[in-house]
Amino acid sequence: MSQPRLMIYGATGYTGQLVVAEAVAGGLRPVLAGRSAKKLATLTRWSALDQRTVAVGDADGLTSALKDITVLVNCAGPFSRTAEPVVDACCKTGTHYLDITGELAVFEALAARDATARQAKIMVLPGAGCDVLPSDCLIADLAARNPGARCLRLGLAARSGFSQGTLRTVLDGLNDFRIRRDGAIVRVEAGSLRHDFDFGEGPNAALVSVLGDVATAYRSTGIANIETYSQASRPVELLTWTARRLGGLLTMRLPRRLLDTVIRQGPAGPGERERRSSHAIFVAEIEGADGARATARLRVADPYGFTAAAVVAVAARVLQGDVRLGYQTPSSAYGADFVRQFDGVAWDRPDG
Ligand SMILES: NC(=O)c1ccc[n+]([C@@H]2O[C@H](COP(=O)([O-])OP(=O)(O)OC[C@H]3O[C@@H](n4cnc5c(N)ncnc54)[C@H](OP(=O)(O)O)[C@@H]3O)[C@@H](O)[C@H]2O)c1
Repeated sequence: MSQPRLMIYGATGYTGQLVVAEAVAGGLRPVLAGRSAKKLATLTRWSALDQRTVAVGDADGLTSALKDITVLVNCAGPFSRTAEPVVDACCKTGTHYLDITGELAVFEALAARDATARQAKIMVLPGAGCDVLPSDCLIADLAARNPGARCLRLGLAARSGFSQGTLRTVLDGLNDFRIRRDGAIVRVEAGSLRHDFDFGEGPNAALVSVLGDVATAYRSTGIANIETYSQASRPVELLTWTARRLGGLLTMRLPRRLLDTVIRQGPAGPGERERRSSHAIFVAEIEGADGARATARLRVADPYGFTAAAVVAVAARVLQGDVRLGYQTPSSAYGADFVRQFDGVAWDRPDG
């Protein structure tokens, strides 16, 4: 029987390279893949590893590239442009699919492939990065301790620089703020909802933002009303203002191209020192039918480093045959305690 094999697609990106480094440090020998042979050739540090070049628009090429692959980690984002064709190819080849998306529409599109994934006997687990693996575990644990919740609010406070790919992904979602009401995903105006969260220094204002948990928390807990927020820091206030005033403009081709050019002039992502001093804090608050509230808080150090460690840890479980078939959230596949194993995670919950 042939050895289980891991492929990392989007291996040339800022996060893709962190994921490759983490996998190699853990003793894995991933196949490196991407759409550009020229960019793959620059990964000279890992020249001993197999490489495959294929574009996501090439369905036959994808199935051929995946035919001997057990598990694929997709790091090529924005995932609205890559996840669906890649999952469709994985369903044909019987390859388990993981990614690091935080994009709400991507979670929903992949959840709609649940039956096909089960038939293909594969697991499809998007969001195995900093957003949404920690928040999904935090929420699943809090909901299990407080059954019958009517409403969930999640707040995020991030102190981190951003990679070019993250900035492009944020821009993609800037005109599309959504929450969940009575089970349905509905659109809300940027800045139209505010809520206070205690990120560790007392109550702090946060503004409605679009996080993948609107999709994943519903599947993990069944709570029908979900709102997600980001701490009202200066950059978040500016993004909210931009979304209100210019959101429509940013969906137009020319302004978007100009912004992409500006993003390309900047650094690929936060440098090592900046990364190591960065963090993300998630606060989950659930409200019962009687209006009683319960909260829990989880801090993750170095969100980009965490993302690499988390998705590689999930891939390692899959390579050992530890999978749940069909569409999964991190907590539905591996339980709410999965997040506790990673360095730099601090969880404030009733029993520590
Ligand atoms: N959930 C989380 O916490 C988390 C953490 C980190 C990153 N992310 C997400 O991961 C994504 C990548 O981030 P990054 O920092 O690595 O960005 P990046 O440095 O720009 O790298 C993006 C990678 O994806 C590839 N790619 C992009 N669009 C593609 C397409 N349509 N077809 C094939 N390949 C494509 C790029 O290939 P080329 O080099 O050929 O363009 C590159 O290899 C972003 O969406 C980001 O938001 C999420």
